[in-house]
Amino acid sequence: MQEEFTPRIVGFLCNWCSYAGADLAGATKQKVPASLSVIKVMCSGRVEPVLIATAYFRGADGVLVAGCHPGDCHYREGNYYARRRFALLEKTIETLGLEPERLMLAWVSASEGQRFSEVTDQFAGRIKQMGPSPLKKALL
Ligand code: FES
Repeated sequence: MQEEFTPRIVGFLCNWCSYAGADLAGATKQKVPASLSVIKVMCSGRVEPVLIATAYFRGADGVLVAGCHPGDCHYREGNYYARRRFALLEKTIETLGLEPERLMLAWVSASEGQRFSEVTDQFAGRIKQMGPSPLKKALL
């Protein structure tokens, strides 16, 4: 009998907005995937590509980067850097043998617990449909 696939999702959440949004989701008992591992960062602009690659090499099936909405970054333009970096990463992630859909960038504010729940649930559902990371399979 085959075990049901539960995707391992790593979420890099900015301290000021998305992490607080995740906190609100928890406080208001919103549904959040149990397999989501949260890594708090000060700003989405601080999520270097090597951190994302490391998450995949360590067994993540999907990686979410979430930060403040455009114009709301506490470091003024960190999320603009994140958005530009994301556009490049979407193209280069295939060189690792991964589908670009395994990477997601989202804007979630501190007051959007419901949105955090929806974003993470949708992403986990997408990754579940895609199956385990081909990189993980290749490394085993
Ligand atoms: Fe939240 Fe920059 S502080 S994205």
